[in-house]
Amino acid sequence: MNFARMTGVFMIKKYIFGKPFDTEAVFANIPECNDALPYFEVDATEGLKFTLKLGKEDAVYGLGEASRGINKRGYVYDSFCSDDPNHTEATRSLYGAHSFLIIENSGKPFGVFFDCPSKITFDIGFTRKDYLEVSTQNPDINVYIIEGDSHYSITESFRKAIGRSYIPPMWAFGYTQSRWSYMDKDTVREVVRKHKEANLPLDAVYLDIDYMESYKDFTVNEDTFGDLEAFAKEMKEQNIRLVPIIDAGVKIEKGYDIYEEGVDNGYFCTDKDGNPFEACVWPGMTHFPDFLNPEARRWFGLKYKFLTDKGIEGFWNDMNEPAIFFSRKSVTDTEKKIREYAKEELTLDGFNDLKHFLSSRQNNMEDYESFYHNTPQGRYRHIDLHNLYGYNMTRSASEALSEIEPDKRILLFSRASYIGMHRYGGIWTGDNHAWWSHILNEIRVLPSLNMCGFLYIGADIGGFGCDTSRDLMLRWLSLGIFTPLMRNHSALGTRLQECYRFEDTEDFRHILELRYRLIPYLYSEYMKAALEDKMLFKPLAFEYPDDEIARHTEDQLLVGNEIMIAPVYTQNAIGRYVYLPEDMTAIRMSGGEITEKPYVKGHHFIEIPENEVVFFIRKGKCIPFAESAKNTSEIDFTSLSLLGDGNEYLLYTDDGIGKDFDNPSNRKILKK
Ligand code: NOJ
Repeated sequence: MNFARMTGVFMIKKYIFGKPFDTEAVFANIPECNDALPYFEVDATEGLKFTLKLGKEDAVYGLGEASRGINKRGYVYDSFCSDDPNHTEATRSLYGAHSFLIIENSGKPFGVFFDCPSKITFDIGFTRKDYLEVSTQNPDINVYIIEGDSHYSITESFRKAIGRSYIPPMWAFGYTQSRWSYMDKDTVREVVRKHKEANLPLDAVYLDIDYMESYKDFTVNEDTFGDLEAFAKEMKEQNIRLVPIIDAGVKIEKGYDIYEEGVDNGYFCTDKDGNPFEACVWPGMTHFPDFLNPEARRWFGLKYKFLTDKGIEGFWNDMNEPAIFFSRKSVTDTEKKIREYAKEELTLDGFNDLKHFLSSRQNNMEDYESFYHNTPQGRYRHIDLHNLYGYNMTRSASEALSEIEPDKRILLFSRASYIGMHRYGGIWTGDNHAWWSHILNEIRVLPSLNMCGFLYIGADIGGFGCDTSRDLMLRWLSLGIFTPLMRNHSALGTRLQECYRFEDTEDFRHILELRYRLIPYLYSEYMKAALEDKMLFKPLAFEYPDDEIARHTEDQLLVGNEIMIAPVYTQNAIGRYVYLPEDMTAIRMSGGEITEKPYVKGHHFIEIPENEVVFFIRKGKCIPFAESAKNTSEIDFTSLSLLGDGNEYLLYTDDGIGKDFDNPSNRKILKK
């Protein structure tokens, strides 16, 4: 990776408390500032507590993957990677831990990054409405203060310090299909065939844990997915990539090479006595690779070669918070508990106690406290480095893949993450539900993730958990066509939700076709954002800071420099109110036809039937627009038209697979 450009002067200062673990989140070499930490009062009685008084109107932005609004004020959040599939308003932590904030500070905004790999609590005007209180359990932490004159410049300085965002291959901008329960090759073949028969574009199919033998990493179930190499080739001939999942836990099984090598070389996390720690995940009892140990990290990463040798060009890393269903100790404790209750007749209190005990075994803090990492900085308890685990699993894959395939981009994204991981892969936002509120959640999380460097992002379209409905699917796709990762994924046992399962499939086709027509724009804007450390998804508040209405609009976003989206996220709506902070041209896709209509700044009710998509191009700007295609390989970049009332557009294109990102010939001006 080329970080040579990162030698400039940063508007960023580093303050060190205690002896922090070097997370390598900040890539730039920033010397310690010995002045007192500005802005905050610091209390070191228990862990550390940073307190700041907020002005009445101050918004607080950031925290990456978190629930609730773009402005985080009014609630309390934990930065602690959590495997929690119930993403409600009460959820305090999700899969990622991204402790970067922009605080408006009465008109003089600044950024702050609390770089600490254990849990941090952000009470943002929740306990006391005008105070921000940040509490760490750990007294050892690096705090970075980022100065700048706007939300954008602060974000950009921070992004420069944390290093260039991950860049996927161009095919990963295509529409992709997934489901937990594609049980064999014929099922995958049928999914591809049905897309083709219904004229639905498609670029990849994901393989969930079902492709493995007994859920063992780097194995293939020979009965159901035998000769994966030939199958990957067969799919590639149709321009479809297969993207297998890799889980964090390695099955304990005599004779299984990954298990044996890991034990022999001491590459697994250990308990307090130095024995490999045991936890149950999908394969049954497993050990966790010690991704904080550079040798173990490289060892595990090079195992991906087993699949790249079979023609695989993309991966998703899962269960890497790490998720723990129960530990070996929980098994012993549970047996003891059940034996105690078996002695007498079960009362309601006893029943409830048992129920609570069993449900509290999953992702239990005692377990996270009971295992250890062997790092170059010393032996650490997992709980003190918890947030670095998924980050380093993805780093393990990315670094090894750069050795295995030095000149080729490989698709890679993860469930758990920490700032720093954005250099190695993207993320998907985990186990959401087929709920309307989760469309809104996605709108709000996109810019917050961009602030923290994560650009290749997307949610499970249609919802992972519970049964989706046709209209929810259409509305979610209408947002999904703008997200870099566009993946329809759902859980085992839920309603089947491939687009061809629904009536009037042409409604789905038109939306997916629009995605492919927009890819030259989306890819170009993605690349410019990645190469210039900018945001792809921008809150209106960042672009129009002096417009009070724009500042408080959290269900519309700018995507790149030219367009604004206002997705519909309520059921049975015939459209929605949209606020235009400036004059814009509405682009409407209806029955596959595109029309343009100018609107003046202000409020408008825009009718948007569920099978239509409307988005807006800013005044004086235009976007490149391709002919329809059924696959990214078919997109014709030489015959782009320009939509909108502007006259020219700076297009970024490249071969979509190599790494010559900075070549000036990748940029050209398109004129009307
Ligand atoms: C949890 C992941 O979040 C989900 O996407 C996946 O389908 C299941 N694990 C099964 O692998």
